[in-house]
Amino acid sequence: MDKKAGIWITGASSGIGKAAVKEFIAIGCNVFASARRVPELERLVDENNGSQTKIFPCNVASQKNVEQTFKKIISEFEVNCLINNAGITSFKTVEENSIKETDDIITTNLLGSIYTIKSVLPHMKKIGGGTIINVLSVVTEKTFLNSAVYTASKMGLLGYTKVLREEVRDYNIRVINIIPGATETPIWTNEMRKEKGERMMKPSSVARLIVSAFLQADNLVTEEIIVRPVQGDI
Ligand SMILES: NC(=O)c1ccc[n+]([C@@H]2O[C@H](COP(=O)([O-])OP(=O)(O)OC[C@H]3O[C@@H](n4cnc5c(N)ncnc54)[C@H](OP(=O)(O)O)[C@@H]3O)[C@@H](O)[C@H]2O)c1
Repeated sequence: MDKKAGIWITGASSGIGKAAVKEFIAIGCNVFASARRVPELERLVDENNGSQTKIFPCNVASQKNVEQTFKKIISEFEVNCLINNAGITSFKTVEENSIKETDDIITTNLLGSIYTIKSVLPHMKKIGGGTIINVLSVVTEKTFLNSAVYTASKMGLLGYTKVLREEVRDYNIRVINIIPGATETPIWTNEMRKEKGERMMKPSSVARLIVSAFLQADNLVTEEIIVRPVQGDI
């Protein structure tokens, strides 16, 4: 029997990733939900269609863990879309950021996405194609204070995936970069959410955009989508 195909979403326990799980389920897709917090992932299954949501706990900062997780997924399923969404930041200056914080941000946001991409590529080639969607940030477009490490991680992934896109064109693999502005999720402090949350985009709106990019048919690829709150950056 053919394996069922589905969407592997990292950072699915919260914010944009969690909203993306809901939106993909709403259009009938199977979702493979990864993050570190298992209780949050279990809640996701309770809240959504249990049969379409499969939990695969994973710390993307560990290459070994990513490899093991991917092996588990493909032992049962096919992955026709990877969404690199897991991400962290710190809102600190270069000087304030410890080496540990710096390592964590780069490893999670940049290397974590590289690990997942390297795990899915041979599989996507084998099954005749696929879609890789990376959730970047408007920090790749504009300079924001207190975000040097975060900006380095997102710009690094932007550069990496621009080259990747060219390398995989002949394999029917689409590489899409979503570049969102401020979105009202727990990545922000409670104070910021209280003060500016109303102006920010909703995670569900960004998630719908991700789904629409995935759904684009035929032989086209929307390579980059920049999306901001109507009232501009925060
Ligand atoms: N919110 C914004 O304004 C905004 C704007 C532009 C781009 N983004 C990007 O959007 C993405 C999602 O962020 P969000 O705003 O939705 O924030 P969020 O609510 O804090 O969600 C972050 C997600 O990443 C997961 N994660 C963090 N470290 C991980 C690791 N080592 N391994 C696996 N999963 C990990 C978290 O799950 P666990 O803690 O359970 O592991 C959580 O599910 C990020 O890449 C962020 O940079 C956000």
